[in-house]
Amino acid sequence: MKNYSAVILAAGKGTRMKSDLCKVLHAVAGRPMIAYVLESVLAAAAEKVILVVGHQADLVKQALQVPGVEFVVQEPQLGTGHAVGFAAPLLKNFHGDVLILCGDTPLIEPATLDNFHRFHRERSSRLTVMTTIVRDPRGYGRIVRDEAAAVVRIVEERDADDKIRAINEINTGIYLVDSALLFSLLEQVRPENAQGEYYLTDIVAEAVRERIPVAGFVLRDSEQVAGVNTRADLAAVSRIVWDRVRMELMLSGVTLLDPSAVYIDQGVQVGPDTVIHPCVTLAGATRIGRECVIEPGVIIRDCAVGDRVNILLGSRLTSAVIRDGASIGPMAHLRPEAQIGKNARIGNFVEVKKSVVGDGAKASHLTYLGDSTIGKNVNIGCGTITCNYDGRKKHRTIIHDECFIGSDVQFVAPVEIGEGSLIGAGSTITRDVPPRSLAVSRAKQKIYQLRKGQGPKTADEDRDV
Ligand code: UD1
Ligand code: CA
Repeated sequence: MKNYSAVILAAGKGTRMKSDLCKVLHAVAGRPMIAYVLESVLAAAAEKVILVVGHQADLVKQALQVPGVEFVVQEPQLGTGHAVGFAAPLLKNFHGDVLILCGDTPLIEPATLDNFHRFHRERSSRLTVMTTIVRDPRGYGRIVRDEAAAVVRIVEERDADDKIRAINEINTGIYLVDSALLFSLLEQVRPENAQGEYYLTDIVAEAVRERIPVAGFVLRDSEQVAGVNTRADLAAVSRIVWDRVRMELMLSGVTLLDPSAVYIDQGVQVGPDTVIHPCVTLAGATRIGRECVIEPGVIIRDCAVGDRVNILLGSRLTSAVIRDGASIGPMAHLRPEAQIGKNARIGNFVEVKKSVVGDGAKASHLTYLGDSTIGKNVNIGCGTITCNYDGRKKHRTIIHDECFIGSDVQFVAPVEIGEGSLIGAGSTITRDVPPRSLAVSRAKQKIYQLRKGQGPKTADEDRDV
């Protein structure tokens, strides 16, 4: 029995981040931190989910295109208590509990929200605060309890004296409140504090003043409620997510030679018996098959990589598809819409963009393939380039199956090479070549005899100087 609504606070700028980007959009392991909070709330199946946005509201809305989520805009942003007030119109006809959370606490888990709600209901509480006990409470609101251990107040660090600062039970910023009570308490909140803001935390003292008991749910696992206020907090929280992702992958059969030195976004899939070297980043919607080797310095974003693929030192792959058995790099650059066929080889200093490279094809050294289709088993010689851009438009190069392209060939697109043809080294190909033909376009070689004093110095001449 759930029947609660959730209000997520995400309107603040996040001044302590010292950033032009609002805090909740900063990425934790590749995803905006607010997305984690929202995901947990949705998994806990709240009845209604309201996001309070304000600073860069449009950007936040855009980042969270999830059905069933309602947005309200808090403008200006006068504090967490002020923010919750903006959800009131949307909850007018809702008579139940309101779960309030902050968008900067991304590690909260759905099971914790369920336990919290159960605790709240079992006690028939009207206001419950989630707290936790930490070694270093700096930056958090402190939970003040009376002699009977009942929660009576939350005091923000800036408003606390030394005695209160020494308390290490902190406010996680997560609350469950009966909706009618919530909005009546909020009306009492005044911005009388060091920051001159409307503090949501003040509803606790207001409830106590009205003799309404406030329950405290103490969460054992403090890590889950780590709030992000600074870049240092962001790094700490990111490390926890990366640790989890790495642990899951290792347990599923992936070898990480130095786990702490690989950065894998949440949601990236990697098959068993794949070996990942240090200094590797796997980002976005990347999928990697089994028995692959990924060498140091590789960055892969939004790619689909098959099985038994080797991706060698220093390669960068973005929005590309690499099929089983292919080999990429060292120092290769696969740009969007590169599709590399089975057992194909893309070697050092090869760049591929918007191109389909057929099964078994090879471009082993120093090549640019842009806007092209390269057939099966084609061999592209060293230094070959597709000249795809005429200064106005991009054009395609099509090379059919089984062609052999000598070194240092330029294909001036649009151009098409028929199946099984041979292109002589050093050729500039400007016209289509039929199947099973040899095309060469280079000036005939001439030989002249050098006279004394011409050309490079000989060893004898050197000695004379
Ligand atoms: C808040 C709590 C503090 C608690 C901590 C837990 C208050 C007054 N303090 O402090 O007791 O220990 O969280 O992490 O509530 N926001 C708005 N509108 C505003 C201001 C803030 O939507 O006008 C949002 C922010 O975007 C953020 C959240 O509320 O997601 C919390 O704001 P923040 O300024 O980070 O509060 P803390 O100082 O961390
Ligand atoms: Ca915070």
